[in-house]
Amino acid sequence: MLKDKTVVLGVTGGIAAYKALELTSMLKKAGTDVKVIMTRAATEFVAPLSFQSLSQNPVAVDMFEEPKAWEIRHISLAKAADVLAVVPATANFIGKAANGIADDMLTTTVMASKAPLLIAPAMNTAMLENPATRENIDKLKTRGAEFVMPAEGRLACGDTGRGKLADIELIFWNIARLALKSKADLSGKKVLVTAGATREALDPVRFLTNHSSGKMGFAVARAAMLRGADVTLIAGAHTCPEVPGVNTINVSSALGMREAVMGAAESADIIITAAAVSDYRPAKVSESKIKKGEGGMSLELVRNPDILKELGEKYSGSKTIIGFAMETEEIIKNAADKCAEKRADFIVANSLTAEGAGFGGDTNVISIVKGDGTARDYPMMSKFEAANIILTEAAKL
Ligand code: CTP
Repeated sequence: MLKDKTVVLGVTGGIAAYKALELTSMLKKAGTDVKVIMTRAATEFVAPLSFQSLSQNPVAVDMFEEPKAWEIRHISLAKAADVLAVVPATANFIGKAANGIADDMLTTTVMASKAPLLIAPAMNTAMLENPATRENIDKLKTRGAEFVMPAEGRLACGDTGRGKLADIELIFWNIARLALKSKADLSGKKVLVTAGATREALDPVRFLTNHSSGKMGFAVARAAMLRGADVTLIAGAHTCPEVPGVNTINVSSALGMREAVMGAAESADIIITAAAVSDYRPAKVSESKIKKGEGGMSLELVRNPDILKELGEKYSGSKTIIGFAMETEEIIKNAADKCAEKRADFIVANSLTAEGAGFGGDTNVISIVKGDGTARDYPMMSKFEAANIILTEAAKL
């Protein structure tokens, strides 16, 4: 997902330093080149060798160590970074970074870098609430640094309160977002997303459904949450783990999805319907299990409401509405027709047959298609990257 990206990970001296090991491993698995800088104090908590082994890169600690190659280390690291993340960040580091103090490898690199800066503080509650720390955090924020603020919990000092390092997965996804150049540009926005497959019951045992895994819609919900939006996800059947921070409502049938969507749509600013909704449902749902007979069997189906169309009729022009279309032929033309008919702002078209697209995978090949037939094609990318492109286009509207 993050191939060709370099993350410079600063680790400062707090008990949560060991959690940065897991982060290093997650970043490596996502394909990033991770370069770790530790402060001296951090090395008291975790051995540099642990980071070196996981990152498969030398760990920088000392400004004045014997150079292994002819390069000025803090400058080369500063330039190499697509994202600079400091996890965990102590009050001391935050104070120095906010006030332009550069007295070790990490702070000089931060000063020298133009890369997006993500800071995940971890400290005792009183230190976090200290006006000095609060001012320093505000100062860094006004200069563009982003924070993943600490969670509440039991702290190493025995106190209970805010100060515990935020969830590592949340930090990881924020780094991923920044590596893909997505800002936290949706704060204050309400985003409604649908995902997964609907199930249309025949009897208490059987249903009609499709192959949707929900991965694309879940990726959109996650990306929108990371960009600061208040996200409601209406999910049919899917294979995805829950996304913390996203309000997920599970539904089963198209009718159930329609009810949940129409209930949540009123307050939404942006609506993205990635769900694969069944166009038909059995005319009759048998209350008891249908027993087999001698001959064949035919099913009578009736049309389901078209949720996207209903949204378009009600909210076109007042809310941003984005649909999806999975096609097997004449992708752009069919998607453009769908867009015009359902009055969406644009349709994300994906081919069922293209290499790297289709059901269940972690990648997609999308085109953004408007009702007037204009389209923009994108190469194969991770569903998370595709989600960010969709949100960037939605935010422009
Ligand atoms: N959609 C919906 N309600 C339905 C069917 C589809 O809201 N009953 C939405 C999907 O979530 C998707 C878009 O409409 O955003 C396109 O879905 P798709 O099934 O590809 O298009 P259809 O309009 O059903 O056209 P067809 O099946 O004929 O290709």
